[in-house]
Amino acid sequence: MHDWRASSIDDESTRSLMSAAAVLHVTGARPNFPKAAPVIRALDQQGVNQRLVHTGQHYDERMSEVFFRQLGLPEPDVNLGVGSGSHARQTADAMTGLETLMTETAPAVTVVYGDVNSALAAALVSAKLGIPVAHVEAGLRSFDRSMPEEINRIVVDHVSDLLFATSHDAVAHLGNEGIAAEKIHLVGNPMIDTLLANLDRFDVTGIRTALALPDKYLVATLHRPGNVDDTADVIGLVKAMHAVADQIPVILPLHPRGRRHLEDAGLLSHRALRVVEPLGYLEFLGLVRGAVAVVTDSGGVQEETTMLGTPCLTLRPNTERPITITHGTNRLVTQAALADTVASTIAAGPPASRRTPPLWDGAAGERIADVLTELLR
Ligand code: UD1
Ligand code: UDP
Repeated sequence: MHDWRASSIDDESTRSLMSAAAVLHVTGARPNFPKAAPVIRALDQQGVNQRLVHTGQHYDERMSEVFFRQLGLPEPDVNLGVGSGSHARQTADAMTGLETLMTETAPAVTVVYGDVNSALAAALVSAKLGIPVAHVEAGLRSFDRSMPEEINRIVVDHVSDLLFATSHDAVAHLGNEGIAAEKIHLVGNPMIDTLLANLDRFDVTGIRTALALPDKYLVATLHRPGNVDDTADVIGLVKAMHAVADQIPVILPLHPRGRRHLEDAGLLSHRALRVVEPLGYLEFLGLVRGAVAVVTDSGGVQEETTMLGTPCLTLRPNTERPITITHGTNRLVTQAALADTVASTIAAGPPASRRTPPLWDGAAGERIADVLTELLR
């Protein structure tokens, strides 16, 4: 991977690495990688010249590199190395690096993924340079502007030229906000392409054995600022998670964001609650597939549990992914209701039947690639 920090834009090798890319993909954070993989693969099959930038927003091996290895993603051509920081600092550093890079290399279209700061930075820079922006996962709305992601979604959608939506509700939100219908494409869900392509590799027995877990266990993930940033909230959250662990062993692959706060609030003091480092994609979804239920505040995990049929309890007051409730296994829960909801979920057993959201069929990457190649022509 070319480390952008180590060279200037005048570096000839960087320029040739990035030159003549028709499609520039900008990724940076964990949930971007499973979304980008099927789009890059489908464009590759169509012989499209493309380049991949990693902003460096996520940088731990377990938050980044492991996805490239497991999902067969190409090594990023450039890593901007922006790292962690305040929203302004992180976004500004990504914008500065991307502006230089896009100016020098003039891609025909920039593709951004999801609602993270890296997508915001890339969309703003690209739009201002007059380079068309394609937004994968457009139109999702929680209608909760206290979430940084909601601000990012709105801004990215409104500067985008191509909007790829995963669900009908997303298409409707974009229409309601005055975005022209011809820019919007309902294509399905590329994150689900990745899940379906890797189903055979989710080894429930393997991961259960590796982690010495019993037959029945619950998986948790927590990282939303609304849950883990505020000390008072975290104390309540730890109590609620301990009440879950009173009923069933809990395994929690913990995102780095919440770790210090949660540990300070006593998270580790329950014998049946085990905290581990973030897991690789295959190991994590093996764990989710075999779980009695999942407690989460992740966006992507709400969608993945819908497909795997694992009951999902989302510790949030809202979701930008209501299709996971209407068509999937997802329910919103409060800290106060969590323990009782887990009890009733365990008592109910696995869902008797399930539906799949329309077009979540493994072919979203190809649909996106078709629209992009049409634009390139
Ligand atoms: C970001 C996204 C969020 C997404 C999440 C996925 C934004 C605004 N937020 O949140 O939408 O759900 O990624 O995981 O873009 N850290 C590490 N190592 C890493 C990365 C982060 O230790 O590799 C720690 C740092 O202390 C950092 C903190 O995690 O300050 C938060 O990272 P950041 O990328 O700013 O936001 P996330 O909470 O990860
Ligand atoms: N994930 C993973 N290992 C973990 C936790 C999550 O591979 O320990 C995967 C998960 O399966 C999904 C993606 O990371 O594909 C979701 O990322 P995250 O929850 O960090 O972000 P969000 O979707 O909330 O933006």
